[in-house]
Amino acid sequence: GKKHKVTVVGSGNWGSTISKIVAENTRAHTDLFEEAVQMWVYEEEITIPKDSPHYDASNADKPRKLTEIINQYHENPKYLPGIALPENVVANPSLQDAVRNSTILIFNLPHQFIGNVCKQLKGHILPFARGISCIKGVNVSDDGISLFSEWIGEGLGIYCGALSGANIASEIAAEKWSETTIAYDPPPMDSSRNPTPSNRSPVASTFDLSITCADDSAYHQQQHRSANGEESKTKLTAVPPEYPPLDHETFAHLFHRPYFHVSMVSDVAGVSLGGALKNIVALAAGFVDGRGWGDNAKAAVMRVGLMEMVRFGKEFFGQTVHAGTFTEESAGVADLITSCSGGRNFRCAKMAVERGVSVDEVERTELNGQMLQGTTTAREVNSFLKTRGKEGDYPLFTAVIGILDGKYKVDDIPSLVATQAHGL
Ligand code: NAD
Ligand code: 13P
Repeated sequence: GKKHKVTVVGSGNWGSTISKIVAENTRAHTDLFEEAVQMWVYEEEITIPKDSPHYDASNADKPRKLTEIINQYHENPKYLPGIALPENVVANPSLQDAVRNSTILIFNLPHQFIGNVCKQLKGHILPFARGISCIKGVNVSDDGISLFSEWIGEGLGIYCGALSGANIASEIAAEKWSETTIAYDPPPMDSSRNPTPSNRSPVASTFDLSITCADDSAYHQQQHRSANGEESKTKLTAVPPEYPPLDHETFAHLFHRPYFHVSMVSDVAGVSLGGALKNIVALAAGFVDGRGWGDNAKAAVMRVGLMEMVRFGKEFFGQTVHAGTFTEESAGVADLITSCSGGRNFRCAKMAVERGVSVDEVERTELNGQMLQGTTTAREVNSFLKTRGKEGDYPLFTAVIGILDGKYKVDDIPSLVATQAHGL
């Protein structure tokens, strides 16, 4: 039989870490997977940092292509310095070449770039490929909100699940134990009719970033149906029988490591929303910590934030989301806790308050090209809520965007999120 070929689309801090994990597993399960893992790298030229063992003093000022450096040293010195990547990770600057003939596509890049990437992928992937989105964010447009997993899947005509958890990349890259959640729930394949994905959100956005060509009318009809909450009619192509089945077991083999424990579930909406919304809460945690208010204030922010996450899931994805995912899975409360302890959104928000500068400025000066998802997600979620007159029901989410925009101060948080004060 044939083996699955795997491509990781993205090579940042988490993209490089996931590539390491997956490449260790393709080596361990050569009955299921081709050993080589393609990793698409957004090409840039870098100079190797002075403290890197690969620093070459004689060529110190000469920038080199990141892909060449990764393939020579088996390390990504810009986004994951000091971590050895398995030699079967192949850095590839060409998106279309990286995905050629791949049956498994792992999407792992900051959510602001996925639209442009999908546009370039359309028509270049196997019709029976399956995707896993490791992206933490939601897709918001004027028409509504959708999960990146479903949005990618519909845009590319494939099924796409989601991976999310309490997963600070640097800890996992150092092989410190953590857990993750993978949601994968493709519709049953039935050749007599078009399958309908079971985890559709009731409000889905139109896919209006010109990913499609003008002649793709079936695709536009599909988007229209999605926007109206109707079931998807996207035609899903079955995985040919000569391949191992793409089921929970195969995905567990691809991602599970002794230091990275996978829980396979079906709640794609819950897993995706947990990963996206906690980034807003992590900013709030950074704000109160930066103000010096200590652990009780941070815990209060996390409590209110978790309630708003669950409320958001029930209100806008209620047909499919399981509230239990937020409380029982790594993708829920565990991710919230780790992100509010050591995540980048938390750390940058904290520094911003301590230094009296904007979070954007801290992101620019401190992250060496890594990117925050919380600031854009806070804005996107707010614009979605505002359109629906729902800002008041989500006081913490609303406080965060207000603080980012200078409308509120951190000191306003307690009164903004105050529960009914019993007439006081
Ligand atoms: P990162 O923050 O390291 O982002 C930088 C990446 O963006 C680099 O690979 C860079 O090459 C790429 N990039 C820059 N400009 C680009 C462009 N115009 N087009 C395409 N790519 C471009 O990325 P990351 O940490 O790997 O995050 C990817 C996703 O994983 C995010 O949604 C994040 O929330 C999620 N995530 C991150 C972590 C973590 O600890 N880093 C953990 C779990 C989930
Ligand atoms: P940050 O992007 O805030 O670092 O969060 C990382 C993460 O998602 C941990 O699970």
